Amino acid sequence: MFVKKTIIAPSLLSADFTHLEKAVAEVERSDIDWHHVDVMDNHFVPNLAFSPDIQAFLESLSDKPIDTHLMMSHPRSLIDAFVNAGSDRITIHVECEENVSEVLKYIRSLSLKNGISLKPKTDVTKLIPFLHDVDLVLVMTVEPGFGGQSFIPDMIKKIAWLDHYRIENQCDFLIEVDGGINAESGKQCVEAGADVLVAGSYIYKAEDKKANIQSLRDSKKS
Ligand code: DX5
Ligand code: ZN
Repeated sequence: MFVKKTIIAPSLLSADFTHLEKAVAEVERSDIDWHHVDVMDNHFVPNLAFSPDIQAFLESLSDKPIDTHLMMSHPRSLIDAFVNAGSDRITIHVECEENVSEVLKYIRSLSLKNGISLKPKTDVTKLIPFLHDVDLVLVMTVEPGFGGQSFIPDMIKKIAWLDHYRIENQCDFLIEVDGGINAESGKQCVEAGADVLVAGSYIYKAEDKKANIQSLRDSKKS
C-alpha cells in the first residue's frame, strides 16, 4: 500500500538566533524536508520578521528547499529580494492588499512554486478562484504573527474541505498547515489530508529535536 511521506518544515521563527548555525545544523541532522521562513511587515500581522539577508544566511547553511511565508499586505515588493535570497517557493495571503492572481502568476513566472494562505477567520471558499493556479495552500492553524500559540482544532474542517475539493476538481496543490503543530495536532491534520507540517516551537524549542521531528514524521494518513 502506498503511504504518502509527510513533508516536515521547521519554522525558523523559533530558532535560537544566538546560535543559529548550530540550531540549523541540529535540525538538518534529523530528517527534515524544507525550511519554513516567516516574513512579517508589522502591518498585515503585529510583528516584524525576517529580512532577505537572514534567509540568505540560512541558504548558505543548507541545501534544503526554502519555503517563504509572506505575511505582508504588499508582498509583491519583496518577492525579487527573497528569490535572490534562495526561496524555492513563496506563499502569499489571500487577505493581502494586492491583486492575488497577478502576484501568484508572477511567482510562477520566476520558475518558483507559489502558494496561497488564509487566516483562521477567513472562509475557505474565498480560495476557490485561485485553487487551479496554486502549487500549495497554507491553512493557518493559529492567528498569524507569533510562534508558540495553541492549535485551533476548528481549522481541521478547512483541511478536509480542501482535500475533498482537490480530488473532486483534479487540483494538485499540496496542503500545508502552520501554527501549534505537534505530534497530536500534526496527526489530526495529516488524517484530514495535510501533506506539509510546519512546526516552530515543537522542533526548535525541544530538548530532543530529533525525537520531535520523528514524531511528526510518524504522522501518516491511515
Ligand atoms: C506564525 C508563523 C508560524 C510559526 C509557527 O505566524 O507563520 O510559522 O512560526 O510556530 P509554532 O509551531 O510555534 O506555532
Ligand atoms: Zn509560517
